[in-house]
Amino acid sequence: MATLPLIQIKAFSKPSVPTLVIFADDELKIDGEAIAAVGGSGEAIEKAASIADFKGKKSSFLDVIAPAGADVDRVIVAGLGKASELNEQDWLKLGGALFGKLKSLNIEAAEVCMAAPAIADKHAAYLAQGMLLRSYVFDDFKTKKADDEKSESYALNVTLKVGDEASSAAAWKEYEGVAGGVLLARELVNLPPNVLGPVEFAQKAVDLGALGVETEVLTAEQMETLGMGALLGVARGSRRPARLAIMKWNGGKEGEAPIAFVGKGVVFDSGGISIKPGAGMDEMKGDMGGAAAVTGLMHALAARKAKANVIGVIGLVENMPDGDAIRPGDILTSMSGQTVEVLNTDAEGRLVLGDALWYTQDRFKPSIMINLATLTGACLIALGNHRAGLFSNNDELAQKLFEVGETSGEKLWRLPLGDEYDKMVDTPNADMRNTGGSRLAGATTAAQFLQRYVNDTPWAHLDIAGTAMGSPKTEISQGWASGYGVRLLNELVKSHYEG
Ligand code: BES
Ligand code: MN
Ligand code: ZN
Repeated sequence: MATLPLIQIKAFSKPSVPTLVIFADDELKIDGEAIAAVGGSGEAIEKAASIADFKGKKSSFLDVIAPAGADVDRVIVAGLGKASELNEQDWLKLGGALFGKLKSLNIEAAEVCMAAPAIADKHAAYLAQGMLLRSYVFDDFKTKKADDEKSESYALNVTLKVGDEASSAAAWKEYEGVAGGVLLARELVNLPPNVLGPVEFAQKAVDLGALGVETEVLTAEQMETLGMGALLGVARGSRRPARLAIMKWNGGKEGEAPIAFVGKGVVFDSGGISIKPGAGMDEMKGDMGGAAAVTGLMHALAARKAKANVIGVIGLVENMPDGDAIRPGDILTSMSGQTVEVLNTDAEGRLVLGDALWYTQDRFKPSIMINLATLTGACLIALGNHRAGLFSNNDELAQKLFEVGETSGEKLWRLPLGDEYDKMVDTPNADMRNTGGSRLAGATTAAQFLQRYVNDTPWAHLDIAGTAMGSPKTEISQGWASGYGVRLLNELVKSHYEG
């Protein structure tokens, strides 16, 4: 992982580095604290704004040489737009944009004046989180940096100067932990599949022990004993054995039923015998985005010591074609006892999740169960990169998820389940087939398949094929992997399942 910025939160005081960041709204109003920090009257800034035609628009910046006699050399004025309307997402994005600006100017040390009473303590923490999320670059395998890439090793030292140090710092500690989870999820998705196989991925889950997460790893033999013929069927074409990692965070009341998250962890999806076309196949290194999100979430919850009992289960396999691979026409028996006719070996995610969901429900009796998976191209076609597909057997859970999607910015859109779709996964030869028989309603038929492994536990399936990877660049995410799902589910836990 690239060098991360060092972000500190301190009580407001005179600036001690040459670069100071202050805020201005769209009427170019600058708080008194910021003017005092610059020194002088603020007139010089007004003049500079007028010359540069700076209007204080949200996430726009004005770079000013500090007026004579000021305590700093340089002032960067960050536009807030309509300051009174800014929500937490706006502060997060502003942090991302600010980091981008400082990086483009190659500024190594800066202070940000956030002492104005109008700036809530939480806003500093959101700004800091945005900076950290923005800073991530995947450059682990670059041994040489081209001259114009020197910014890749850019290390920023930034201090946010706030009104209430204790309360902002406490919020930041929490949000930093969550950002750590997002960066972990991104890193897992970005890592190449030769480096991150099922065994190596399971080790990353074990590594969360450092934060107090307890992880158990089941081997292929142990899964065989449990009868996980569907998950193990997918793994058969790979030389690398499957793993099931079970992560536990017990931050809640003793004896209280856990909430459970289940992730699809296909470390590489070649399609198997129903092999995918070559173009873009490399992207299928990200077919473990669901497992990455669950692992990142466990990191986030543990880092911020969430007051909830949480289970994270990830099914780790590689889908490859070889002489021992499953074929179209094969019939597999899952742990639930239900049989599956494999009509397309490229519909492997549901086979992995069928066993992982059943296992999770059977062993932990969770109060709710949510799975994440880069499951279908159909979902990507329907919703693009902007929203993940949401399927649920429970309206209340679906509504909660939808709402935290809106507030966290990791958005969802509900798609249907129903008997008429359920029938589409029937087959004369077994209990079900692993396709819907055609391209019609492809995201829903995959969800119907999963639902056959869920009893009456409130359950939701998030199809993140479009949002986990290949993501458009935003203020807070500049790379291929977004870490989608970590902030969303952290927010869900925080607002509905703690305390
Ligand atoms: N991992 C893919 C889905 C996918 C596609 C994720 C594009 C991200 C981007 C999944 O295993 C798959 O291949 N699904 C097939 C299912 C079909 C064979 C029924 C699909 O969507 O085409
Ligand atoms: Mn596939
Ligand atoms: Zn897949």
